[in-house]
This record gives sequence, C-alpha cells and structure tokens, in this order.
Amino acid sequence: MAEFERILLRDIGKPESWSIKTYEKGGGYKALKKALSSYSSDDIIEMVKSSGLRGRGGAGFPTGVKWSFVPKDTDKPKYVVVNADEGEPGTFKDRVILEEEPHMLIEGIILAAYAIGAHEAYIYLRKEYPLAKKRLLTAIEEARKAGYIGKNILDSGFDLEIYLYIGAGAYICGEETALLESLEGKRGHPRKRPPFPATHGLYSCPTVVNNVETLSNVPFIVLHGPTWYRQFGTEKSPGTKLFSCSGAVKRPGVYEIPLGSMTLKQLVFDVCGGMKEGHELLGVIPGGISAPVLTPEELDVPLDYESIAAKGSMLGSGGVIVLDKTFSAVTYARRAAEFYAEESCGKCTPCREGTPWLVNLLRKIESGEGTEEDYNLLLEVTHAIRGKTFCPLGDSAACVVENFATKYREDFEKLLKKPAAVS
Ligand SMILES: Cc1cc2nc3c(=O)[nH]c(=O)nc-3n(C[C@H](O)[C@H](O)[C@H](O)COP(=O)(O)O)c2cc1C
Repeated sequence: MAEFERILLRDIGKPESWSIKTYEKGGGYKALKKALSSYSSDDIIEMVKSSGLRGRGGAGFPTGVKWSFVPKDTDKPKYVVVNADEGEPGTFKDRVILEEEPHMLIEGIILAAYAIGAHEAYIYLRKEYPLAKKRLLTAIEEARKAGYIGKNILDSGFDLEIYLYIGAGAYICGEETALLESLEGKRGHPRKRPPFPATHGLYSCPTVVNNVETLSNVPFIVLHGPTWYRQFGTEKSPGTKLFSCSGAVKRPGVYEIPLGSMTLKQLVFDVCGGMKEGHELLGVIPGGISAPVLTPEELDVPLDYESIAAKGSMLGSGGVIVLDKTFSAVTYARRAAEFYAEESCGKCTPCREGTPWLVNLLRKIESGEGTEEDYNLLLEVTHAIRGKTFCPLGDSAACVVENFATKYREDFEKLLKKPAAVS
C-alpha cells in the first residue's frame, strides 16, 4: 500500500492530542467555522451524502442518506445521539478517538446537529471507558469556552448543548434502539422498527444515531469537500477506516487504512507483523465477534464492505480478531455463544432460550460428550434463532456458531463420541 497521511489518527502521538490547543493547531474547528459562515444545513447533508460516508458502527448505512430522513418541517425537537458504547468484542477503535482526539468527535457532533437542526446532542458512553469520560468532559468545557457549544455559536444564531451519558455495561445498549430506551431511563430493550429513529427516536422525536468514528469523519468532509474524501477508499466504500486488531499477532493495535487499499491478509501479515512466534493461524474474524470467521484460505480479500460481504462475512465494526490454534474452533464457538447468552436482553424468546441451548450443546461437544445428534441439534437451534428476533443479536449468535460448526466441521467431528461398535 502506498503511504498516505493519516486522517482520523493524525494527532495521535502529538503532545496533549486531546486538548483543544492541539486540535486547533492541526486545523480543528475550521470546518465548523466554514459551515456556519458559508453553508446551509442542506449543503452539509448533501456533502456528506456525496462523500459516500458509511456508518462505522457495524451496519455501514450511508450517513448522509440517514440524515436526509430526518423531517425538516416538524415542531418536535430533534436530537443527535452518539453511539460510544463500543461493546462489540474485539473492537476498541472508538476508544482511541474518545481518549486521544475527543475534539474531532465534538466538531463532528456540532456539524451533524447543524445539518439536521438539533439543539441537543447526547453521547452514550460505555462505563468501562473512564479516561474517555474525563477527556470528553474536559473537551466539552473547552469547546464551550471557545464558543463552539452553547447559545449563538460563533454568532451564527445556532444553539447546541452536548450531554454525556454513561451506560451501565450492557452489550445490547449498543444497538441503537435499545440505546435510546436506556437513554430515556428504561431497560435497554430493542424497539420494533419501523418506525426508525430518524422520525421516532429519542422521546419519539426525530433522532440521528451515529457511531463515534462516523461522526469524526464529518469535519474532514466539510472542510475539504466530498471529492477530496473520495480519493481514499473505493467507489462504494469511500474514506479510511479504523481497524482494531487483536489476537496472536506480533503488532496488535489500531490502524487507519483507506478502505479497499489492502487485503485482510496484508493487514494481518504485513501491518500486524504476522503470527506471534509459535502460534499457528486458525482463522480471522474481520469485523467484531458478530462477523463470521474467515479461514486462512479466505483472507486474500480486499478490506471494504462489499468484498468482505461477498465472502459471507462483514466488515462490521472493523474489530479484526486473529484466532490461533491454541484453542479449537469448538472452544472459540463456545466462548462466543457464552457471550451472546450472557448479553441477550431476554425480550425475544428464540434468543433468550436459544443462546443458552447453544452454550450447553457446545460445552457438551467440547467436553467430548457430544454426539452426531448434538451436532445436528446445534445447527437446528441456530436455524430456530436466525431471523426470528427484533434485533440482530440473536442472528449474530446463530450465524457465528453455525459458521464455526460448518467451516471447521472436522474440529467438531474429532470431538464427537462415536457410536459403540456392534459386535
Ligand atoms: C447487539 C448490537 C450491538 C451494537 N453495538 C454497537 C456499538 O457498540 N457501537 C456502535 O456504534 N454501533 C453498535 N451497533 C450498531 C447500532 O445499532 C447502529 O447501527 C449504529 O449506532 C449506527 O451508527 P452508524 O450509522 O454511524 O454506524 C450495535 C448493533 C447491535 C445489533
């Protein structure tokens, strides 16, 4: 890959990268000044639309299109809600922005609010990020003192307040409708959709919910324009993406890469330095635990939304988990199933009842007590969950287990009890 200048991670390593001083020195808040003095809200939505920016929280939905669904002529208040829950196992890329470059997110929030006509924004932050909380609170105060938040921002007549809300540690509260329920002070259960948050979101008012990384791209799009932005990435997956890489590689970490500019194999073997000494590759999960695993033979795939989807997996959150042969595929499947069973919110019967079934069957197989019948039942349970729940948590549990069980069938078969020989 040709060298490129980091965009989202540009301030990492600079002294006090999280301060307003460092952010402004690198051009921070210039986009906001430009937007408030020269662009209408519609202009901003159009720019984000033509940039092709897609949501970085997992689903990859086009951000500008989402913003354009927010009704313009409504008496209801509108809201911007930032999804900073980052609960997907293997994902820790938003953390870098929240802790090291919080002003980039804040500028993105103000631009999003201006674009949709919101005067209140909420950041829903996972409670496991105390440093992010501290840095965000300081950054919000710095931005207020500088006149970027509050009443009549930069004499434009536009008002905005940003509030920080700390979650209580539930994976399901990263799902946008459960997040909204939680923000309203209720139990974090997903809502039926439609209606979608763009029309019926927080307190049933028009709301845009966006991921931290998604919003952090917006200042660059507004400052430099969509054509500039599109020089990075591919036609359908423009821009750069943060990948958090973990597992048995030599250089785990968070990397920024123009979408489609390299393959998953290159990310694992060149950027992350390949496998640690003495560890053998079993497979790679490309987009957080909910993305189906790819075998070593399937890694020659460009890192963009379409190419990974064509391989039957997902780019998802960009949480690349490198699995090695220290554990078998059965163990990895069991660990994933345990996570989903623990985190299932219990609203939908197939997920609430089905995920513990997956765990029990996988534990039985792992311990050598499982039979061919148990293996078949495992697959049957995945079918009983899939497509029958309000939110994708159940689907993910089913998909991940089915994927491990079919792609690594031999690992499973090795552990199955053979029928007793008839003499
Ligand atoms: C179970 C579950 C957990 C999720 N967790 C997160 C999360 O932690 N952070 C996030 O940004 N999106 C998460 N999502 C995706 C959100 O529902 C939603 O798609 C995202 O916030 C939209 O923002 P974006 O368009 O900017 O990606 C999760 C989805 C599901 C089904």
